[in-house]
Amino acid sequence: MSGGTIEKIRAVETPEGTFTIRLIHDDLESIYPGMVRYTVDILCGKEPVATYAVNSYEVPPGSLVDTREAAEVLFSRVAHDVASRPHTYVRSRHLTRPLPGSGAYDVVILQGSPRQFGNSARIASWCSDEAARAGFSSRVFFLHELDIRPCIGCYACYNFGYCPIDDDMPGIVRALESASVIVVCTPVYTGTVPAGLKAVIDRCQWLHAREKVLGREVHARGLLVAVAGQRGSEPFVCITRVVGMFMGNLGIRPAAPVLIDDLDRARDVGKVEGAEDDVRAALRALLAPRDEG
Ligand SMILES: Cc1cc2nc3c(=O)[nH]c(=O)nc-3n(C[C@H](O)[C@H](O)[C@H](O)COP(=O)(O)O)c2cc1C
Repeated sequence: MSGGTIEKIRAVETPEGTFTIRLIHDDLESIYPGMVRYTVDILCGKEPVATYAVNSYEVPPGSLVDTREAAEVLFSRVAHDVASRPHTYVRSRHLTRPLPGSGAYDVVILQGSPRQFGNSARIASWCSDEAARAGFSSRVFFLHELDIRPCIGCYACYNFGYCPIDDDMPGIVRALESASVIVVCTPVYTGTVPAGLKAVIDRCQWLHAREKVLGREVHARGLLVAVAGQRGSEPFVCITRVVGMFMGNLGIRPAAPVLIDDLDRARDVGKVEGAEDDVRAALRALLAPRDEG
């Protein structure tokens, strides 16, 4: 994973063999200003058996702990631990969780409304139907039904490219990473996206980290379909920006959004003239073969 500079190296002779402990410095300025990562990795002979890492964004402002010092302490403790109980380091310790092996779809639809049979859910069904008509697989994630906790801003994802929170997010990350088209169907809630969708958007920082740390890029096109109770373009000002930032952060290329207003009056998006056609046409345009040259 690391292509950084080896700053310290120590050989530890034990009855189990010779271990090598390395302190590696990576400059991650290209990801965030001033970001650095220190990795302590342990090799038994030539085989990597364990890796620990700390980055400068994990350390809160004003902390007495400096990232470099933390890495030094980690290095010394690891060296001591390897010397005192080498048998525990003989076999590889996997500290990362792999993403699920299955769960890839051509079209991934993030349905942000808590209303199971509401307008956004209806729009999601039009999208999955349109995908099927065009011969593509799709999956609608009803985000409200999933256990997705908010991002805790630990920045640990920039160490290994995985998030330490144990919930339903890996399935979404797996799907987004392999999708060709990502659709966000959502109502406007107090000017922006509902909290459940915002949690997913924030947790997708993990995908950003996977891109940067592991080089796993998202190559999808994106479509936002938003519904609002009030009339006019004003309710969509913030939501288009938030979803635009989400897509921009991950390198998802967005199409023009479909914005459907005045639903406090119409109530049912199925009865809004032209809405279904607009949604289907927008998705069809993304699914059509294109010349990328
Ligand atoms: C908590 C909450 C906040 C809302 N905030 C707004 C808002 O700021 N602007 C707006 O135009 N509509 C707002 N609405 C109305 C919804 O966007 C509208 O009812 C939409 O059709 C609901 O979509 P759904 O059926 O997919 O849940 C709000 C609704 C709720 C429940």
